[in-house]
Amino acid sequence: MKVVAFNGSNRKDSNTAILVRHVFAELEKEGIETQLTQLAGKEIRGCLACYKCYVNADKRCVQEKDPLNEYVRDMAGADGMILASPVYVASISPVLKALIDRATMVGKANGGLFRHKVGAAVVAVRRGGQVNALDTINHFFLLSEMIVPGSSYWNFAFGLEKGDVDRDAEGVQTMKVLGQNMAWLLKKLNS
Ligand SMILES: Cc1cc2nc3c(=O)[nH]c(=O)nc-3n(C[C@H](O)[C@H](O)[C@H](O)COP(=O)(O)O)c2cc1C
Repeated sequence: MKVVAFNGSNRKDSNTAILVRHVFAELEKEGIETQLTQLAGKEIRGCLACYKCYVNADKRCVQEKDPLNEYVRDMAGADGMILASPVYVASISPVLKALIDRATMVGKANGGLFRHKVGAAVVAVRRGGQVNALDTINHFFLLSEMIVPGSSYWNFAFGLEKGDVDRDAEGVQTMKVLGQNMAWLLKKLNS
């Protein structure tokens, strides 16, 4: 089994990536393969609303100049996915939103590419707006007919500078429990 994660932070290996790695550690203990893609420095364009993905129905977006189609392929080929973001002005980062918008359309245009996969949101936040960011990611999972495991608290941790989230003990614990619950669910679904 495999879980792919996308880190929407513009800072590579910073708080959001640290949180994803806490979830990954629990998945890996259960023998689940993991893959992290960091979107820092990547340009992912927004959806053009051209609906050509419905006309072509080839599991691709017509915009070929950025890595979106590669990411959709990774998401469709995995058993589970983590979409992770820092809070930017009470929401998710623009690059992750662009990924979500286009992946939603390509997934729907092709009969539900992500149906019954396991999805988990992860958010790093300094102080406020985290629930809105989590909701935005969870809306994608639920609209895509995916299955969302819970944790001991909502899936965020507090931090401003790189590494701060590791001082939020409850936030780290939430990521660990999330990883354990994600592994449990993946095993049930694949048994
Ligand atoms: C453009 C921008 C907007 C931000 N907006 C918020 C916000 O609305 N609420 C908040 O608590 N933190 C906000 N932050 C702080 C980040 O969410 C926080 O530093 C987070 O830990 C960054 O994760 P990273 O280290 O993975 O980049 C913002 C940071 C940036 C760069």
